[in-house]
Amino acid sequence: MFAPQRPITLLLFHLFNSVTTSIHRPPAPSPDPSRLPSSTSPVTTPFTSSTGESSPEAACTLTTSPSTLVVRFGDPATVNCSRSKMEFTPLGWNAPTPVPEPMVAQYLVWSVDRMTEWSIQLMCYALIDQEGQCQINVPVVVYKPPDNVSISFVNHCGAMVEGHRYSLQCEVQQAAPVELLTVTFYKGQTALARLRSNNTVKEPVTEVFTLDILPKKEDNGVQYWCEAELELGPEGPKHPPVVTSQKFNASVNFGPHLHCPEKLQVREGESLVCDVGGNPQPSVTWYRDGQAVGLPTYSSRKHAGKYTAQTRGHLGEKNFTVEVEVLVGSGTANSCNRYILSAVVLIQMIYRL
Ligand SMILES: *[C@@H]1O[C@H](CO)[C@@H](O)[C@H](O)[C@H]1NC(C)=O
Ligand SMILES: *[C@@H]1O[C@H](CO)[C@@H](O)[C@H](O)[C@H]1NC(C)=O
Ligand SMILES: *[C@@H]1O[C@H](CO)[C@@H](O)[C@H](O)[C@H]1NC(C)=O
Ligand SMILES: *[C@@H]1O[C@H](CO)[C@@H](O)[C@H](O)[C@H]1NC(C)=O
Ligand SMILES: *[C@@H]1O[C@H](CO)[C@@H](O)[C@H](O)[C@H]1NC(C)=O
Repeated sequence: MFAPQRPITLLLFHLFNSVTTSIHRPPAPSPDPSRLPSSTSPVTTPFTSSTGESSPEAACTLTTSPSTLVVRFGDPATVNCSRSKMEFTPLGWNAPTPVPEPMVAQYLVWSVDRMTEWSIQLMCYALIDQEGQCQINVPVVVYKPPDNVSISFVNHCGAMVEGHRYSLQCEVQQAAPVELLTVTFYKGQTALARLRSNNTVKEPVTEVFTLDILPKKEDNGVQYWCEAELELGPEGPKHPPVVTSQKFNASVNFGPHLHCPEKLQVREGESLVCDVGGNPQPSVTWYRDGQAVGLPTYSSRKHAGKYTAQTRGHLGEKNFTVEVEVLVGSGTANSCNRYILSAVVLIQMIYRL
């Protein structure tokens, strides 16, 4: 029922960490302890194109801020591409218009007043003397919170029946990117399942998530609802967009169930109590020897015997048989004994103190 979490994590990792430089820096050489006894700072390889001793990779020092662009559709967006040291070669952007002119600079900013595309490629590059260019791709997430989230049954309406299987569906309207959407089904405050879509389309789509449930009689009256959240990662808004559905009160039909043992012991003088529960409340008629009877409120020996409860609940008619045994010895005397006993215990406790 639960969507596997691992591919999702991998996906997010991919989205937010795929800032790639086409030219990779070589691993920093490990410092030779004999030559650098006290140095712990990383060793940087200087770029010297005139001698050609250093590899050109070391010169690709581009970074962007933000490293991943997360922008709501229609909002302004800005990405600053900069290099860590000054070089006299042009910096440029491969991006949707307006594209800034490539120029020799420490940094170059690309921006739009309104993001009106769902899928764009953003790449900042720097030309390197003779060696070509180095570049950095900026992953872009253009998002839109869902218009509406609603919960309903699949092919069912009204009350459920205990122990039967039902499908709940959560419809999330026009959210993007649906791939980053997490839908959680709740029963009261309990999360039942978290689901994800594997649809990779960038434009807003309406997606339906379903969950099978097997209601128990305890679920009568609980509220089912669902919640859709766009997980936009660390570069996303501080409070990621969350939209919740309406709540619906579940009605679970069950029973009739007998609420007393089938061999019922009752003390002489006590009332005979045996309830029959269910939703909807069943009708109950008690029979003894074929005669409709009321259960005695003051039991005596003559009340012992077999009773039949004829009940009518949502599943139709059901009969229960209860064998009643009346324990001899006055019920009032018994309870009196109990009081004496507790008084003795109390006295003993007082003595211990
Ligand atoms: C772009 O980044 C550079 C380096 O971090 C910084 O000096 C510069 O002020 C930034 N420019 C803008 C417009 O944010
Ligand atoms: C959301 O959808 C539900 C069910 O289709 C509907 O009753 C409700 O009015 C909708 N809400 C909005 C804000 O559109
Ligand atoms: C999503 O994944 C399920 C199985 O995990 C697969 O059956 C389905 O075709 C996938 N849908 C898309 C749009 O990739
Ligand atoms: C659902 O149940 C809650 C409390 O359990 C109650 O306040 C609310 O009125 C019920 N709503 C409907 C539509 O029955
Ligand atoms: C239940 O008991 C009544 C009365 O004894 C009888 O008429 C009826 O047929 C019984 N029903 C079932 C389902 O056994």
